[in-house]
Amino acid sequence: MTQPTAPDIFAADQRSRWLSDHPGIWSRQGADLDAIPTLSILTTLWDQPRWLEAYHLYDELGSELFEAICDLPEYYLTRTENSILEANAKNIIAAAPVECIVELGAGYSKKTVHLLSEQVRQRGLCIFAPIDVSVAGLLASKASVQKDFPQLEFHGIHARYEDGFSAIEKSLPTLFVFLGSTIGNFNQTEFPRFFRALSAAMGPNDYLLLGADRVKPVKLLEDAYNDSRGITAEFILNVFRNINRLLGGNFDLNQIGYHSWFNPHWQQIEMYAVASTAQEIYFRDANAGFQWRHDEKILVEISRKFEPNRLQEQLGFFGLTPVEHFTDPNEWFSVLLFRKQN
Ligand code: AVI
Repeated sequence: MTQPTAPDIFAADQRSRWLSDHPGIWSRQGADLDAIPTLSILTTLWDQPRWLEAYHLYDELGSELFEAICDLPEYYLTRTENSILEANAKNIIAAAPVECIVELGAGYSKKTVHLLSEQVRQRGLCIFAPIDVSVAGLLASKASVQKDFPQLEFHGIHARYEDGFSAIEKSLPTLFVFLGSTIGNFNQTEFPRFFRALSAAMGPNDYLLLGADRVKPVKLLEDAYNDSRGITAEFILNVFRNINRLLGGNFDLNQIGYHSWFNPHWQQIEMYAVASTAQEIYFRDANAGFQWRHDEKILVEISRKFEPNRLQEQLGFFGLTPVEHFTDPNEWFSVLLFRKQN
């Protein structure tokens, strides 16, 4: 089969690097998204205190568990952000006169539909380009978009966020959408690295729409990450099932507990795995191991909570100017619109 030419949402010097294995889905030549991240797992587990990078949480079961979390009564984030987008999509799209919407992450969720339908209503033709590491997710997104919005041009970008957004043509007016408060899962190193790269990739007519969970009473925060059905605990501990599979490890899920709390000094929920007995951990495929002491914790995920004014000030240092701030009546969640400074 001859390769179709990559569309001009990609910068001219990038087009020859993007190939299509499935119609409408583009992958970068030579990128190996399935490479086993042995080094990342081992280095962080050998750190003190031990920790893991959040993306190991999202194997197939992890992604399903996260979907289930989004529907939990205690997990207010998804429905609150959705209600903000539903109420304000018209104003958001009016304030961001773009031709293309690039979504970082999950692709076509209920929440994005509000933006797409407004974009179609206000501007007719439009391009939608979700960036995701899952081809299955992109294919599902494509099927729904084509059914609901036949006017939209769809280009799925199979890549990590940074590789995806850095390839977008800067002269194409684009709204980058990053929802769900996923920025809360970035640590102090990842946060500036991400915004530096995103801002550098944005052109003079580009906008960013960012969903951010806010600081609020501790009980509400802690309940959202320690639900009564135990699904969050299952989601967090599933990371060890995934690591066992990736590295031939021997973590015993029956001997691991879940502990989470809101750290008020760092304004973040911290989600830990705690060894309920001492364990000799060994990774067959890496021929390496460590002593996991009784009661010793591994930090599996953080979820930072934000003060919107401070977040706006911070992003100003990355060349992003606040345009509008949308919130819900309880002020639990913020959806922030920024414009790239010229
Ligand atoms: C994906 N991310 C924004 C979720 C959060 O709220 O930090 C992940 C999550 N972890 C446990 N519950 C939800």
